Amino acid sequence: MDINNIKPLIDPSRPKVYIETYGCQMNVNDSEVILSILQKEGYVLTEDMDQANIILANTCSIRENAEQRIWGRIDQFRLQKKKRQDVIIGIVGCMAERLKDKLLDGHQVDIVAGPDSYRSLPQLIRDVTPDSPQINVLLSHEETYADISPVRMDKNGISAFISIMRGCNNVCSYCVVPYTRGAERSRDPKTILREAQELYSNGYKEITLLGQNVDSYLWKAEEGEEASVNFAQLLEMVAKISPELRVRFSTSHPKDISDEVIYTMAAYPNICKHIHLPVQSGSSSMLEKMRRKYDREWYLERVAKIRSVIPDCGITTDVIAGFCGETLEDHADTLSLMEEVVFDSAFMFAYSERPGTLASRKYPDDIPYEEKTRRLNEIIALQGRMSLKSNERDLGKEFEVLVEGPSKKNPDELCGRASNNKMCVFPSHGEKPGDYTHVKVESVTSATLICSNLG
Ligand code: 5AD
Ligand code: SF4
Repeated sequence: MDINNIKPLIDPSRPKVYIETYGCQMNVNDSEVILSILQKEGYVLTEDMDQANIILANTCSIRENAEQRIWGRIDQFRLQKKKRQDVIIGIVGCMAERLKDKLLDGHQVDIVAGPDSYRSLPQLIRDVTPDSPQINVLLSHEETYADISPVRMDKNGISAFISIMRGCNNVCSYCVVPYTRGAERSRDPKTILREAQELYSNGYKEITLLGQNVDSYLWKAEEGEEASVNFAQLLEMVAKISPELRVRFSTSHPKDISDEVIYTMAAYPNICKHIHLPVQSGSSSMLEKMRRKYDREWYLERVAKIRSVIPDCGITTDVIAGFCGETLEDHADTLSLMEEVVFDSAFMFAYSERPGTLASRKYPDDIPYEEKTRRLNEIIALQGRMSLKSNERDLGKEFEVLVEGPSKKNPDELCGRASNNKMCVFPSHGEKPGDYTHVKVESVTSATLICSNLG
């Protein structure tokens, strides 16, 4: 691992790469891996597309509108070609994997590279000519980019992502991810710890361990190693780096989150008390059709367990409205579950049929667009009330906050997150980004805790 490779290089004489990132946090981290690979080849990052020799879009396929947005961007990129024919356009990531050579029809772009082929990007770039676009969409059972130290593109130098695994072995019937990111594989914990340590040495104060399903992280002992490492153990190892380094993780799967993980969270003050636990639906029959492998009761039991061990734990979720065959009763079950749990916040989506998934093959996408939207709006409105309710429960509480920087609305104030992941805004006492301070919640909105600064 290259320890000094943490920040983007600045050298105007070198060729420049411009990278746009769409989709999940995994993709954000993958773009940092791509930059690391390209920097070794002499490229530097530019934020100005007009300056770029290579334009890359790291793409998402999760819903149709994510892909539509990217098609729109490809049109924009092609306008650059009109100005400068030698500029190379590459589509990488999930949409590259899903659409493969369809992206090359009509020579829309020059390079197509799937999530497991980023090491080949330098070669693809070398081989590309105006008449021969290049493609590599091979998926791997081993690739974790474990030895590559991502070049951090975040602006604040305080929070960073570390991928601990890639791919997904759950075949939720609506989801394209297993097809775009391949089979699940866990990354060697030694390389994860080294990366976390390196970030901490470079002044980072918060890391988020990323995986499609972190609870199924498992590093099987190799010859000469002492034992296997599961997610709870990995979490503990990272937490032990320093009490000053906060640890977060995402995403947990309700079927897999173990008591061991919950107890490990409780045991370490620097493991943030927040779990993103996507429920998707409150109806057991929908959950079965979605192949989530848990039912409503199981989900509620996991929430009860989390809250009995960690009473102040933040819990957030994802919800899908209007999945195939969803009745009004199923929809009402989702609303009632949301009211019962009182999630702090939620990502909420209308179901979008993805080609190749089990649902697209087996179940008609039969809820009309207007009805899906109506249900989604109902879910969003309810969550607004629940977020407010959850925040009101924090009135008068005191939290330790990691200062991120000036508040967006009022630059004279600071903002930062409490352990439970809620955004706090508070007056500055001269703290800098990366400092810890204590705050007291004085008033709330559905999105923010407005606090006094206790220092
Ligand atoms: N349609 C709508 N939402 C989806 N998600 C995943 N696939 C789909 C789809 N086909 C949502 C799920 C998941 C989140 C990342 O995206 O809620 O948890
Ligand atoms: Fe991330 Fe899934 Fe989108 Fe791929 S399809 S970028 S894994 S959210």
